[in-house]
Amino acid sequence: MNFELTEEQIAVRDAARDFAQNVLKEGVIERDNEQRFPKEEIKQLGELGFLGMMVDPKYGGGGMDTISYALAMEEISKVDASVSVCMSVNNSLVCWGLETYGTEEQKQKYLVPLAKGEKIGAFCLSEPEAGSDATSQKTTAIDKGDHYLLNGTKNWITNGSTASTYLVIAQTDVEKGHRGINAFIVEKGMEGFEIGAKEDKLGIRGSDTHTLLFTDVKVPKENRIGEDGFGFKFAMKTLSGGRIGIAAQALGIASGAMDLAVAYSKERKAFGKEINKHQAIAFKIADMATAVETARLMVLKSAWEKDNGLNYDQSGAMAKLYASSVAMAQTVEAVQIHGGYGFVKEYHVERLMRDAKITQIYEGTSEIQKIVISRSVLDA
Ligand code: CAA
Ligand code: FAD
Repeated sequence: MNFELTEEQIAVRDAARDFAQNVLKEGVIERDNEQRFPKEEIKQLGELGFLGMMVDPKYGGGGMDTISYALAMEEISKVDASVSVCMSVNNSLVCWGLETYGTEEQKQKYLVPLAKGEKIGAFCLSEPEAGSDATSQKTTAIDKGDHYLLNGTKNWITNGSTASTYLVIAQTDVEKGHRGINAFIVEKGMEGFEIGAKEDKLGIRGSDTHTLLFTDVKVPKENRIGEDGFGFKFAMKTLSGGRIGIAAQALGIASGAMDLAVAYSKERKAFGKEINKHQAIAFKIADMATAVETARLMVLKSAWEKDNGLNYDQSGAMAKLYASSVAMAQTVEAVQIHGGYGFVKEYHVERLMRDAKITQIYEGTSEIQKIVISRSVLDA
């Protein structure tokens, strides 16, 4: 067993850290207040190669491993989870899905600009009546010979208005249940495709989460991903890797909050000494460090399994379940360590606490991760 990172992994982590601390930090409070999408920051992230990190260089990507991706996700999420959710969707849902299951034509046309960060992608599974219960798709795509006619509504879509390329899951044959679901590449600007309302959110307020409406959108047949009926498996396989990315995001939120709490505990004095000299605070920091380190080991192990061609469905779900609960619990503690200062925006920890909550909800709620884990354990 080798816990040492390679030189390349360290370089990627340090580059992401540098970008987060020197570029993202300055405007993060303002972007959160104004619910402003980090357009310029995402553009720079793309130029640095962080939007198609794992894609083969022949398709414009960085050719990096999942461990490097997880390390970068942690660093970016320490500072701005609104940026890292965009990064996560583009890398692990859209690029990975297209590279793994797309045709050569689809890769050349859609993957290359996404991997280079010239365009942004969105992954559209959730609907008003199909969230956790993802097989209950109401969006339909009817086979019309050379094209499908797409009708329906997707909601909660990350990168909803900024994306150019949308992977949309829809029911093509109701009678076949989940085996009658397909995934399609839909372009912004296709007739009948409308971007709906933007959500006003508790956390990750800089990310643009939208409802999308499809009315008789003609999607060319060649835009279907995989064999007929592969759409639900496509979504599940893609989400398995996505969960490693969101676990790394949760880890970053937790470790970012810990860094702030540790630094503050060394500065703030009460009763004649630094607050970390009070055992109650020192023990909070011990618990925080232990939980963060455990989450990190789980995230990296799952990434390692993916890099080594092993099944990572269970470890990814476990990493997401655990890291998201650590993010939630430890950001609350970081606010507590800051006292009243933790309750105001200037000190960053209140935002991290608000951002932490979403990691227990998207890409499968914590309850859904427990379904995935328990089925995997019981079926073994
Ligand atoms: N890989 C391959 N196939 C899989 C699979 C996997 N990991 N998981 C399930 N399947 C297959 C099953 O084998 C089955 O196919 P067969 O019948 O042919 O064997 C089929 O999918 C249906 O599986 P289940 O019977 O297990 O389906 P279910 O209705 O019980 O639901 C579920 C399973 C795990 C709960 C699933 O619905 C799920 O993951 N729900 C959560 C949805 C989710 O995560 N949404 C995230 C949206 S994207 C997002 O959120 C992005 C973001 O925020 C940034
Ligand atoms: P529901 O499924 O209605 O769940 C409600 C509650 O019931 C939850 O606590 C859930 O865990 C519980 N529950 C449901 N079923 C069970 C069960 N069988 N057993 C036990 N408990 C259960 N989706 C996309 O497709 N693409 C995106 O880019 C995207 N981005 C998002 C961004 C944000 C900010 C948000 C808030 C959501 C995003 N989502 C996205 C949607 C997200 O994946 C769903 O919100 C999530 O899967 C839960 O679905 P739901 O909201 O319909 O909740």
